[in-house]
Amino acid sequence: MHSLGKDAIVHWTAYWQFESKASGPQRPLLDLIIEPVWFEFTDVLADGAKVLDVATGNGPVALSCAQRARANRKRLHIDAVDAAGISPPNQLPYSDGHLPTVKFQGGIWLEELPFQNDEFDGVMSQYGFEYADEQQAVAEVSRVLAPGGRLRLVIHARDGAVWKDIGDRNRRLNAVMADDGAVNLVRTLVQAQQKGDAKLFESKLKHLSSAVKDAEKLAVDAPPDDSAVFYSREFLYVFMNRQQYKISELLQSLEDGWKHAVGTSSRYEQMLQVAKSAEEMSGLCENLKAAGLAIAAVRQICDPANGAQIAWQLDAVKPSSAG
Ligand SMILES: C[S@@+](CC[C@H](N)C(=O)[O-])C[C@H]1O[C@@H](n2cnc3c(N)ncnc32)[C@H](O)[C@@H]1O
Repeated sequence: MHSLGKDAIVHWTAYWQFESKASGPQRPLLDLIIEPVWFEFTDVLADGAKVLDVATGNGPVALSCAQRARANRKRLHIDAVDAAGISPPNQLPYSDGHLPTVKFQGGIWLEELPFQNDEFDGVMSQYGFEYADEQQAVAEVSRVLAPGGRLRLVIHARDGAVWKDIGDRNRRLNAVMADDGAVNLVRTLVQAQQKGDAKLFESKLKHLSSAVKDAEKLAVDAPPDDSAVFYSREFLYVFMNRQQYKISELLQSLEDGWKHAVGTSSRYEQMLQVAKSAEEMSGLCENLKAAGLAIAAVRQICDPANGAQIAWQLDAVKPSSAG
């Protein structure tokens, strides 16, 4: 029923619980470009409006709208929901006195929103709507939107700058997680050591110096926060200093790191899969129209520094006359 399946969501839960405030690399810079999109959306909502942020993650959009509304002395009631087990109050440095205006709830799928018909004056989503089953999500957001209500979606752009960056990050990560890539090799070596399998240990050890060289090569073009670089350096460092640790603790810490790396790769792959081309955006518009919404605008959000597309922005309205 859900486009990516329930298994994919566990990686988001792990991410929101333990790893992050926001959803991707390069985030602070891109937030600065996209934030005005949400400020503008907040500004057109009436005082007292009810708003829903779907696939909210740890709530950057919901909180940014709450802060903007508060600054303009406007009361908004914001529900912010996500299929994953989210943890925004613990994770966001800016979750201060604005929080009471945002009600967060995890375990809520876009395909089955637990809200009344016509309940919201605004529905929004940043890099979230596209992860759900499109037909069902379209039906649900149109159902909960009140007549006259506005929908704004910011959607990953296929072939856009972020998509390309994530693709590169994913390729590097897959390389260091491949059989004789630095991360997997270290894991296998330590597993062999724990099992006392000297033959496997010796045969794998032969590949270590080329794995180190490959990891170094990957790092040359990688940004400073690259996961492949991070995990390969961590794993190699731990392996080189393995005498300092108990083997069981060493293995446990590598298994934890491996689990995080698998989660990162899954999230990258999900993003690469759900990002929309121009044609897919047209298809989405048709689906929204069929559900009774009027399309107000579709535009590219671009990086002013270089003109590269970062995302799509789609605005739609539920006509007041819709019954
Ligand atoms: C890239 S993150 C975006 C989070 C947040 N909007 C942000 O901008 O930081 C995608 C989010 O979509 C959520 N998600 C994926 N499929 C979903 C679904 N079918 N229903 C609700 N949430 C979903 C994930 O749990 C994840 O938190």
